[in-house]
Amino acid sequence: MSVMRSVLLATSENRWMRETGPKLWFVKRAARKFMPGEEFADMLRAADELAPSGILTVFTRLGESVTDAGEATAVREHYLEALTQLKARGMHSEPSIKLTQLGLDIDPERCFANLRALAERAHATGNYLWIDMEQSSYVDVTLALTRRVKTEFPRVGVCLQAYLYRTMDDLKALVDQGIGVRLVKGAYKEPASVAFPKKADVDDNFFKLAVVMLEGRGRTNGFRAVFGTHDLNLVTRIQGHAERAGLAARDVEVHMLYGIQRAAQGRLVKEGVRLRVLVAYGAYWFAWYVRRLAERPANVWFVVRSMFAR
Ligand code: FDA
Repeated sequence: MSVMRSVLLATSENRWMRETGPKLWFVKRAARKFMPGEEFADMLRAADELAPSGILTVFTRLGESVTDAGEATAVREHYLEALTQLKARGMHSEPSIKLTQLGLDIDPERCFANLRALAERAHATGNYLWIDMEQSSYVDVTLALTRRVKTEFPRVGVCLQAYLYRTMDDLKALVDQGIGVRLVKGAYKEPASVAFPKKADVDDNFFKLAVVMLEGRGRTNGFRAVFGTHDLNLVTRIQGHAERAGLAARDVEVHMLYGIQRAAQGRLVKEGVRLRVLVAYGAYWFAWYVRRLAERPANVWFVVRSMFAR
């Protein structure tokens, strides 16, 4: 892992930085590249702007590691209201939530009750609920709660991280259980005892996992395969494999983050790939934003430049 990436990931978890960083105007300005604003209305505007290009959205209200039960309830209420509003507007935007935002660190049962309420509303509004994956210590509990909610509400998917050694086993089980998977490389600082330290090995594992996901697509148990990556080489390899397996272009679904690889997003839609962009908003954006910097340390220059830009 590069020194810069390590420093940035440590910064994202530092309490003082989490409180101070968002107040710095130039950091706020630079963060705009990855998020259209702090309000749900900003997300709706971004979704409306993307829709004419054939790009749908996933949305997430930023925040994590909530330690106050009232805050977790407020997060649940926000998503419930968002799902209702989207249905009323006829918009096809899917929520993606973090379990630590729904109170996982306070009480897993309370977190499950919040999760269940969201899955129920997603089901009632014809939507789909995505569950993010956080640090490796949360994987077991995240998968357990996902499986539990899926027994009642089928339209749920969870994120898996290609950097973890365990992911192939987790993936095979989820394919069998018909739980949707959004495969990503992984955004946290993890030790070599649980995750591939080398990027080349992560990329390699991503492709191997993608092959299993494309095979799983043929099942009729509700399994949904999504590739959450901006790595265009990987996307091309996955498209090639899908074609050789006799799948249509539309059988490949890719999710990217708002503001990254915009030109490629348009090209992929023209090629027939199903594409969604994850739009993040909310006041607690700092840790999330710094993880975006860590993915591409050259992004730090945007922060520096935004100090001088008018
Ligand atoms: P990689 O890092 O190899 O980047 C490939 C290329 O994409 C780079 O060369 C660059 O051109 C571009 N790029 C990538 N990141 C960039 C950035 N920040 N700024 C500018 N350009 C960039 N992680 C996690 O642990 N849990 C989760 O729940 C999720 N959820 C999630 C949802 C979606 C829709 C996406 C796209 C990603 C996530 N992630 C995530 C983040 C993921 O784990 C990973 O950190 C990033 O996607 C970066 O990895 P790439 O696959 O893009 O490849």
